[in-house]
Formats: sequence, structure tokens, C-alpha cells
Amino acid sequence: MKVAIYPGTFDPITYGHIDIIERALKIVDKLVIAVLVNGNKKPLFSVEERINMIKDSIINLKNVEVDSFNGLLVDYAKMKNANIIVRGLRAVTDFEYELQLAQTNRQMNDNIDTVFLLTGLKYSYISSSTVKEVASYNGDISKFVTENVAKELKAKYIENIIK
Ligand code: COA
Repeated sequence: MKVAIYPGTFDPITYGHIDIIERALKIVDKLVIAVLVNGNKKPLFSVEERINMIKDSIINLKNVEVDSFNGLLVDYAKMKNANIIVRGLRAVTDFEYELQLAQTNRQMNDNIDTVFLLTGLKYSYISSSTVKEVASYNGDISKFVTENVAKELKAKYIENIIK
């Protein structure tokens, strides 16, 4: 059974991420979407909120688990019996960073390979940061995220304004 991990911050999940998830499911038996708990970024949403938005966005997909992880990705992958890490590439600018991550991971565990999938052209410009920026100015984000995520983003920015 081919088990793969799709790790990320997912703050929040976008159509670009969903595109990668759907593509990955065509080549693996099981995909674990793993939300990083303590990364360098300061996420807008809590881990629980991010997990719930992911679950809601992939409700129709089978063979997917949504989980969170702390610490090294290779250790988490081993714990999950996964020997594939899936990462999406949107443009050539993603490549250098991804190569560094993949080679570092390989140095730590040579049994785990990183598989890169190209994000559909339609979503190649999306990032969670740009979606948050548009949402913070009350712009239309319906082309970037699901209806539910758009609602959550709106609520978060209203909540922050009130605070
Ligand atoms: N569609 C849309 N957006 C995409 C995307 C796609 N297909 N692929 C990446 N992105 C965006 C994300 O939205 C995110 O945008 P943001 O920076 O505006 O938030 C950005 O690209 C990259 O983020 P993400 O894919 O979530 O990766 P990350 O860099 O936040 O996290 C981990 C990378 C989790 C894989 C890495 O930090 C990790 O493994 N950490 C654990 C510690 C470890 O083992 N480190 C490895 C040794 S150095």
C-alpha cells in the first residue's frame, strides 16, 4: 500500500492545495494531509480550525486522512508508515526551496522520497498569504477558496477588527 504525506501550513487550504490532493490521490493508495503545528509562520487560524477547514473542503474524497504533526516531517512520515512526501510546485520559484527541503529530508531518511506535482495552471498564482491579504480588505476570494473557507476568513477578519 502506497501511503503518502502531504504536509503544509494550510493557513488556510486553497483550491491550489485541493488540486494537489486530487492529483496525489490518483497515484497513491492513501494520502495523509498533515498540518504543521509549530512552524516558523504565525498562522491566522488555529491547528483545529485549519484541520476542520481541510476536512470540510475534501468531504467528497476517499482515502484521505487529516492530521497534525510537530517536529521533523521524516519522523512523522515513518510513524505513519509513509515513504512518500507530496509537495506541489506552482512555479519555478518554488523549486529551490522545495529542493532544499527534499534533500534535507533525504539526508535524514533515505527511504522517504519527495514527489513533486505541478499545480494546475489555473491555481499556479494562489498562496494562502495572498488569499488572506485579499480577504483582509474584504475582496472577493471565491476563486481561491471554498465557500466555507471564505466564510471562516471573513469571520476571522471581522473578529480581529472587533478585538
Ligand atoms: N496551491 C496553493 N498554494 C500553495 C501550493 C499549492 N499547490 N503549494 C504551496 N502553496 C503555498 C502555501 O499556501 C504557502 O503559502 P504562504 O507562504 O503564503 O502561507 C506556501 O506555498 C508554502 O507553504 P506550505 O506548502 O504550507 O509549506 P510550508 O513552507 O509552510 O511548510 C513543511 C513546509 C511543513 C513541509 C516544512 O516546514 C516541514 O516539513 N516542517 C517540519 C520540520 C521539518 O521536518 N523540516 C525539514 C527539515 S528543514
